[in-house]
Amino acid sequence: MEIKWTVFVLAMVVAMAMWGNVSEAKGKKEKVCTKGWECQGSKYCCNLTISDYFQVYQFENLFSKRNSPISHAVGFWDYQSFILASTLFQPLGFGTTGGKLMQMKEIAAFLGHVGSQTSCGYGVATGGPLAWGLCYNHEMSPSQAYCDPNYLYPCSPGVQYYGRGALPVYWNYNYGIIGDGLKVDLLNYPEYLEQNATLAFQAAMWRWMNPIKPKQPSAHDVFVGNWKPTKNDTLAKRVPGFGATMNILYGDRVCSQGDIDSMNAIISHYLYYLDLLGVGREQGGAHDILTCAEQIAFNPSSSSSSSS
Ligand SMILES: *[C@@H]1O[C@H](CO)[C@@H](O)[C@H](O)[C@H]1NC(C)=O
Ligand SMILES: *[C@@H]1O[C@H](CO)[C@@H](O)[C@H](O)[C@H]1NC(C)=O
Ligand SMILES: *[C@@H]1O[C@H](CO)[C@@H](O)[C@H](O)[C@H]1NC(C)=O
Repeated sequence: MEIKWTVFVLAMVVAMAMWGNVSEAKGKKEKVCTKGWECQGSKYCCNLTISDYFQVYQFENLFSKRNSPISHAVGFWDYQSFILASTLFQPLGFGTTGGKLMQMKEIAAFLGHVGSQTSCGYGVATGGPLAWGLCYNHEMSPSQAYCDPNYLYPCSPGVQYYGRGALPVYWNYNYGIIGDGLKVDLLNYPEYLEQNATLAFQAAMWRWMNPIKPKQPSAHDVFVGNWKPTKNDTLAKRVPGFGATMNILYGDRVCSQGDIDSMNAIISHYLYYLDLLGVGREQGGAHDILTCAEQIAFNPSSSSSSSS
């Protein structure tokens, strides 16, 4: 009897110790992926996905005024569209590169661009100017049709290529190249970008993930540290970081002009979102990484207007 008890108790102790070890190992083990792209051989496979660290309430915080009555895209933008769009790009590293801090910073940076480019907060008092991202989904009073003679992407008759989307797309050749990238006929149907929020986010993510010209880095690359500046880049004061993402996306419309308002508004959105996500703006880094005030454009406007 007594021996049996001892054996039983011993067995219990051993079992508990083993259970303890197993659960400890489980805690340390990397996430096990069981679904979707996570198991399809991407090198980002099994890292945190965007919805693991960026949830619907955070999206609502970042874009808290987008459905206010004076907004211009009420009911259009939502978290589900953002997440659905991102499933195309997460296997390529969007929001899945590096550890959690880098991942959250990339989402704050990407959305900082989106928020600043779709804001109607300037001159609106309530909530402050940074609370009004995703207020628009298209340009309200286009001053022109944005049609440029282009043999690869000729304008479709009667179609206008004014700004639409989350990182607004302008010009026929930009609709053409992004449409090719997403396999959607945006050259003939640019209006899709103001009708479908998932597609609008996908177009913005495509722009973020791809270089403007071959052999150049993408905004994603310069942000997450995939890019090593050349000697020429260093001479042009181009350093990896948020400032270089503005250089790629806007060139000298925003960069190489000193501390101008349009540049500072983009930086402010990024820092505001870092705060709201609980990352903290101090993680945005030093001023010389955040800014592109002195950077020479990768694609100076004098020579980029003929680009396709
Ligand atoms: C996956 O996550 C780990 C841990 O956070 C990180 O160190 C690694 O760089 C990530 N993988 C890639 C390809 O970014
Ligand atoms: C919106 O775009 C997405 C992504 O391209 C597509 O899967 C979906 O079918 C579109 N929705 C509609 C209503 O056209
Ligand atoms: C560096 O800049 C010089 C002068 O603008 C140019 O001729 C050269 O091709 C550039 N080199 C690279 C690798 O881009």
